Amino acid sequence: MVQTHEKTATSPVNIAVIKYWGKRDTDLILPTNSSISVTLSKEHLQSKTTIRASPLFEKTRLWLNGIEEINLINNKRIQNCLRETKLLRKDYEEKLGKEIGMDNVLSLSTYNLHICSENNFPTAAGLASSASGFACLVYTLSQLYELPVSATELSKIARQGSGSACRSLFGGFVSWQMGSKRDGSDSQALQIASSDHWPELEALICVISDAKKGTSSTEGMQSTVKTSTLLQHRIDNVVPERMKLMTDSILRKDFSKFAELTMKDSNQFHACCLDTFPPIFYLNDTSRAIISVITEYNDKSGECKAAYTFDAGPNAVIYALKQNIPEIINLIFKFFPPSRENLTFFSDPFKLFSDRKIGN
Ligand code: ADP
Ligand code: DP6
Ligand code: CO
Repeated sequence: MVQTHEKTATSPVNIAVIKYWGKRDTDLILPTNSSISVTLSKEHLQSKTTIRASPLFEKTRLWLNGIEEINLINNKRIQNCLRETKLLRKDYEEKLGKEIGMDNVLSLSTYNLHICSENNFPTAAGLASSASGFACLVYTLSQLYELPVSATELSKIARQGSGSACRSLFGGFVSWQMGSKRDGSDSQALQIASSDHWPELEALICVISDAKKGTSSTEGMQSTVKTSTLLQHRIDNVVPERMKLMTDSILRKDFSKFAELTMKDSNQFHACCLDTFPPIFYLNDTSRAIISVITEYNDKSGECKAAYTFDAGPNAVIYALKQNIPEIINLIFKFFPPSRENLTFFSDPFKLFSDRKIGN
């Protein structure tokens, strides 16, 4: 009887506070700047992937949210992740073969796969589905293949699926070091601090629209690299210093500084989008209204109590300390009653941190 091998795992999204936007190598997915993010808990937003391997499968197939990817062979990003994990599995099989004899080693690396992945939140709407999705693909493969490698090693493979995915291999506060090598071997994610470092910090996700964005992150950032002069200024003069300041604010748990840097970096990323020609607009009127509401709230409070940030889409993520979350929820509901504005809101605040565990 032929045995089928199967593994299922889940992965969280991460929301950047120093944004990645721009590639210096589009094949290897090497960024033009380093970035920092916070990994959210998997309570509300997660990807779940099941992978089966069998010598009876005629070809490798993938379903995303129930729909089969018909052109998988030409999906370079998925193929990158499959190739790299298979190579590691092959090395592992050879090593095991030498130890216990080739006949006793399962040649899983030669089997075709059936991959089934689902996101429990809007896909391609600026809520980092490519991050949780590709992190989950690579993590599930590493479990299926029983790869003896670190999360940082896996981050270099996930990066080749979607840049932001490399950061979702870790929980807590994570940096993606851009690296300087041409082969990308030093472009990897590292954990700055674990999930229990700053338990008072929470994130609120405001889903303004679950529609698929008009310009994907991949297309958008390539267009920005080609046409924006502001992006080069950001790369040379802004991000290197911000990386240090943001790391420091996280380690010191200085919310005020963390919030200021987060909002400034979100603003500059969207300014680069506007500086792209033709311009890219990810924010809409509701996004901008949220920026105003948070700005006014911070002004009235006499201190930074909330930080907004927006990825490549209109949906807001608000970082705040736990004690201020009820006040912020009331504020958002006052200005954006869900019935009037088309705004879905996760009213129970997210526990920000998962336990670094991305498996089940
Ligand atoms: P987002 O803002 O959601 O990250 P992107 O434009 O960066 O949007 O990426 C969206 C793309 O990521 C999807 O069209 C799909 O190709 C890929 N993706 C999303 N979720 C998954 C998943 N669970 N497994 C594999 N690929 C995924
Ligand atoms: C605005 O990682 O989705 O969310 O590498 O082309 O797949 P690709 O792009 P992606 O870009 C994310 C951009 C961002 C900022 C960030 O997450 O750092
Ligand atoms: Co993405």
